[in-house]
Amino acid sequence: MSDAYPDNSTLSASKVPRHVAIIMDGNGRWAERRHMLRFTGHKAGVDAVRRVVEVAGKRGVEVLTLFAFSSENWRRPKKEVGLLMDLFMVALEREVKRLNKNNVRLRIIGHLEGFSEKLQMRIHRAQTLTAGNTGLTLVVAANYGGRWDIAQAAKQLARRVEAGEIRADDIDAEMMNACMCLHDLPEPDLFIRSGGEMRISNFLLWQLAYCEMYFTDILWPDFNEGVIDDALASFAKRQRRFGRTGEQVVEGEGGA
Ligand code: IPE
Ligand code: IPE
Ligand code: MG
Repeated sequence: MSDAYPDNSTLSASKVPRHVAIIMDGNGRWAERRHMLRFTGHKAGVDAVRRVVEVAGKRGVEVLTLFAFSSENWRRPKKEVGLLMDLFMVALEREVKRLNKNNVRLRIIGHLEGFSEKLQMRIHRAQTLTAGNTGLTLVVAANYGGRWDIAQAAKQLARRVEAGEIRADDIDAEMMNACMCLHDLPEPDLFIRSGGEMRISNFLLWQLAYCEMYFTDILWPDFNEGVIDDALASFAKRQRRFGRTGEQVVEGEGGA
């Protein structure tokens, strides 16, 4: 629960997802429709991030994970990638002060070694500055890929086998999970993708196993409080069964 934003939600607290993960898609199309450069869409996307962070905090979401740059986005034209890196740099510097003031804890996940030294330093500084904050945890996935995450976890376990610390036979899903990004946070409860595409695009493959999915045609720069509230309302109506029957879940809720 965020301290900085009072909870003015109309949903009962138990129906608010603890962790919301979002693929922020549609910046380019938003700009192209306005006959503007794609980069203008990315810039407008930063304003949408600011809005969503604030609303998520107000609604009582504990963790918000945003997909900012995928491991496949390097395939874009060099110029767009360069501009995105510049924007990331500027946004980190400018937004971190605001986040810190609002008691938000920032974390960046992904293959950070793929970024310039300067960007890595800024990421480190931003994380250190906000590490002690107790409000919303904002996770930004940058140079992140779900397959990369699974592979890096496998590598960690293989090293421990090599070192003789564990046996290959000991490896199970729980042990893998402990090596994955976000293992120390609640699992994502609600996944949202803007921009109309219905795919995961190599986002949190492992962590989304039992996440509720919500897709919207709204392009990311247009994303606002109303869209978040629609997604939260949709989430609140769902019965999460985790493999059980609906009856078992109802009994469980009744305290049986
Ligand atoms: C998402 O918007 C932002 C990034 C992937 C960095 P896009 O740039 O993918 O926008 P569309 O999908 O082309 O409209
Ligand atoms: C997913 O969007 C990645 C981010 C939003 C950072 P893309 O626009 O890269 O996804 P695809 O290529 O359409 O699947
Ligand atoms: Mg896209």
